[in-house]
Amino acid sequence: MSLNFSIKQGLCGLLLALAGSQPALADDLAAKGQAVFERDCSLCHTANAGGANIMGPNLHGVIGRQAGSLAGFSYSQAMKDKGAVWARDNFEAFIAQPQAAVPGTYMPYTGLADADERKALSAWLSQQR
Ligand code: HEC
Repeated sequence: MSLNFSIKQGLCGLLLALAGSQPALADDLAAKGQAVFERDCSLCHTANAGGANIMGPNLHGVIGRQAGSLAGFSYSQAMKDKGAVWARDNFEAFIAQPQAAVPGTYMPYTGLADADERKALSAWLSQQR
């Protein structure tokens, strides 16, 4: 019985070790990003195709979109003037410190301090297209 148990434990550990060593883990990263989005962003944003604007604009396809350009959303002048296309790097910089990255933005979010969470979030959002 106890031998059987330890064999099972050993196998389990091996499987976990194998799972942990898979390359890329892109899907894990995106799944983590989705959880961060739900925790920190979904109060104000949707990210599904044709999703509603809540307090913030729908973020479907935002990576690759001109900042401040979603038709029908009233952006701050600061966001309209940003004059950049959202890519993963400037998106992550914005999310780290929205008010510093776009002074005068209407986005009342203080920032996401954890760089791994920002990376996961941008991985997931770049798949929402
Ligand atoms: C309390 C509401 C609120 C929260 C929480 C919030 N946002 Fe926003 N967000 C806004 C508003 C409002 C704007 C419009 C900003 C402006 O016009 O200056 C915005 C704008 C944006 C933009 C620019 C979109 C565009 O079309 O140019 C991005 C990207 C963004 N938010 C991502 C996020 C992410 C990711 C999170 C979570 C980490 C988040 N926001 C959390 C309200 C929010």
